[in-house]
Amino acid sequence: MRLDVSAAHHEATQRISEIGTFVSAVFSGRLSNTNPQWERVDLRAIEIQGELAMQIVRRTGKETHTSNIAIDDVTAEVQRVLTQGYSNITVTTTSEIWQCRITRRREALVHVEAKTQAQRLEHNRTKQRMLMADDPFLKAVGIATPAGEIKPSKQDKFRQVDDFLRVFESTLDKAMASGHVHSPTKDKPLRIVDLGCGHAYLTFALQAWAQRVRDWPVDIVGIDLRESSVQRNNDLVRDLGIESMSFTTGDIASAQWSGENPDVVLALHACDTATDDALAWAVHHNAVIVLAAPCCHHDVQSQVNAAPQAWNLLTRHGILRERLLDLVTDALRAGIMRSRGYRTDVFEFVGGEHTPRNIMLRAVKTGLVDKDAQTEVDVLAELWGVNPALAKRLNEN
Ligand SMILES: C[S@@+](CC[C@H](N)C(=O)[O-])C[C@H]1O[C@@H](n2cnc3c(N)ncnc32)[C@H](O)[C@@H]1O
Repeated sequence: MRLDVSAAHHEATQRISEIGTFVSAVFSGRLSNTNPQWERVDLRAIEIQGELAMQIVRRTGKETHTSNIAIDDVTAEVQRVLTQGYSNITVTTTSEIWQCRITRRREALVHVEAKTQAQRLEHNRTKQRMLMADDPFLKAVGIATPAGEIKPSKQDKFRQVDDFLRVFESTLDKAMASGHVHSPTKDKPLRIVDLGCGHAYLTFALQAWAQRVRDWPVDIVGIDLRESSVQRNNDLVRDLGIESMSFTTGDIASAQWSGENPDVVLALHACDTATDDALAWAVHHNAVIVLAAPCCHHDVQSQVNAAPQAWNLLTRHGILRERLLDLVTDALRAGIMRSRGYRTDVFEFVGGEHTPRNIMLRAVKTGLVDKDAQTEVDVLAELWGVNPALAKRLNEN
C-alpha cells in the first residue's frame, strides 16, 4: 500500500498510542537530506509499578540511552522521533506487524501482516538480542543447547554474533534508505560474499537473521583456501536446509564472480594481506558495502626500517610499535578506500573484552571520491617509507 508520508506517520502514531495493544516499534534508516540524532530508536510498552508506560532506547553504534516516559507524553515523543527523518518504521501490536519504508521520493510503502503477539511488559527485560537463543543455527554450531539456551561458555560468541548483526543491520538499513543498496526481493536477493570465510559462523548468523528476522532473501558465497572449512560449511548448509548459500575453495585474489556485482563483501579476520586482497577484490568488483575486520598486520610492520624521528618514543617499545603500525595500516586502508569512492569509517565492533580483533573498517560505495584522500595516503606512506599492500593490489590492475 502506498501512502503519503504524513498519512503513514499518522498510522504509526495511532498504533503506538494505543498502549493497551502496542508491543514495540523500531525507527531506523536515514532519509536523504536528514540527519537523525540516533541511528535507531526502539519503543516498547512496559509496566512500572502496575502502570503502563513506554520505554525508549536510542542507539548509535555502541552508544545506548534508555529512558521511560508516561503514557500522556507518548504521542508528543513519537512526533519528535518521526520528525528526525527515519526511513524504516516497524510497529508491532498484539494483532499485526505494520511496516513502512519511505522512499527517496518521499512515498511511504506500507505492508501489514496479521500476527498475534503478546505484550511483554516486564521493566528490566534483558537486552533484546538480534537472534533468538533457540535459533537452529545457534544450536547447530553449539552456541546454544538443544533446548535453546545459550551455553555459559559461549556467551562471548553469542555477544559477538549480536554485535556483528547490529552493525550489519544499521549499515544495510542506511544503505537502503540512501538508495545505495536495493531492497532485497526473491528475484533480486542481497548478494553477499565472505572472503576468507573460515568456519563463517558470523555469516551463518547473518543468513539466519536475514531469513528469520528480516525476511530478506540473500544469496551468500563463501571462499576460503582451506578445503576442510569449505567442506564443513557446505555440510552445515545442507544440515540446516539453507537455500542460496555455498562455499568454495579458492584464493581471494583470484576468486571468480559472475553476474551482477556483489552488494556486500565480508572479510572478517582474514589474515594480514588477505584483508588487502579482499578490499582490492571488492573495489574491482564494484561491491557496494565492505565490512572488513583486519587482523595479523605484518605487511606494513615488515616494511618499516626506521621510524620518523618524532615517533621514536613509541617505536622503541615492541608493543607500542606493533599497535601504532597496526593503526597506520588500517588508516592507510581506509584512506585508499576513500580515494576509490567509498565512504569509509573505522570503529570498534565488538567490545575489546571479548576479542582483541575488534576493529571494523566499513566502506560504502557512494561514488564520491574524497579528493584529499590520495594525498593523505601518499603523505602517511612516505612518512613511514612503506608501500601498502592494498595500494599495490589496486595499482596492479
Ligand atoms: C582467522 S580465520 C577467520 C575466519 C572467519 N572469517 C572468521 O571471522 O571467523 C582466516 C581465514 O582466512 C583464510 N585465508 C587466509 N588467506 C586467504 C586467501 N588468500 N584466500 C582465501 N582464504 C584465505 C584462512 O584459511 C582462514 O580460514
